[in-house]
Amino acid sequence: MKPLVVRTRAELAAARGDLPGPVAVVMTMGALHAGHTELVRAARERASSVVATIFLNPLQFGVGEDLAKYPRTLDDDLALLEADGVDLVFAPGPDVVYPDGDPGVRVSAGRLGDVLEGASRPGHFDGVLTVVAKLFHLVRPDLALFGQKDAQQLLLIRRMSTDLDFGVEVVAVPTVRDDDGLALSSRNMHLTPFDREVALVLSRALRAGRAVAAEGASAVRRAARDVLVAEPGCRVDYLALVHPTELDDVPEWYRGQALLAVAARIGATRLIDNVPLVVGAPTQT
Ligand code: PAJ
Repeated sequence: MKPLVVRTRAELAAARGDLPGPVAVVMTMGALHAGHTELVRAARERASSVVATIFLNPLQFGVGEDLAKYPRTLDDDLALLEADGVDLVFAPGPDVVYPDGDPGVRVSAGRLGDVLEGASRPGHFDGVLTVVAKLFHLVRPDLALFGQKDAQQLLLIRRMSTDLDFGVEVVAVPTVRDDDGLALSSRNMHLTPFDREVALVLSRALRAGRAVAAEGASAVRRAARDVLVAEPGCRVDYLALVHPTELDDVPEWYRGQALLAVAARIGATRLIDNVPLVVGAPTQT
């Protein structure tokens, strides 16, 4: 069945009232791919109704970032959501989400928003959390699904929901990859065939790091770094092995869950990827 597509707050409120609970939300910026589809599938498994939001949030893009060239594919997106069995799509414009212009009051991500992606993109996570908070208020979901692909975003949204008592259950969905290992991303559309080959270095580096997780933190960092530096087409922004919830670099003696995360520019496109791993545990695949 075609999902109902609504664009205004009043239409959303009316349609939301008719949905049987529990209600799950999948938030997106459009340019949908199989990663987003997987979030919808996971949502359908857990909830009676699924709401998808499509909103390209200007607040989370910095000056000189790729807002202007971010792919916009609304018709294809709606067709995909229909095939996935979404019940309701909220696709507002910026004037609906921010009727008074950029909000003066915003959600602050705090310390966890200043590292990794936040260090490269100042204010990014305040922009993400502010729109997610607004969409939580407008959609009123019981649960919300976010991808592990954006691990720091997922962590911050989970923290926001508990720290600020939103009462929304935040569910993590593992990263969906192409067969060759490349993590699916709306930004992959910008890659030339050559760049796409080069981009495989990210997942290759993460796998190399994970393969030596048993040997400790330095071995993981070294193995991943060696793969990255061997690819001249890849300009690394950061490679980090961090605690999964505190996001600080894990020390050499550390044993336990960690996150190996990378960001790099391939041609004109900035890509991120990560893998969870257990430092000090036998080989993980
Ligand atoms: P967007 O990049 O469109 O991603 C929407 C959701 O899809 C996020 O939860 C993201 O982690 C997930 N996702 C993207 N690629 C994935 C993949 N390969 N595997 C699994 N999940 C994947 O993230 C945003 O939009 C925005 O910041 C948003 C949360 C909508 C706020 O504006």
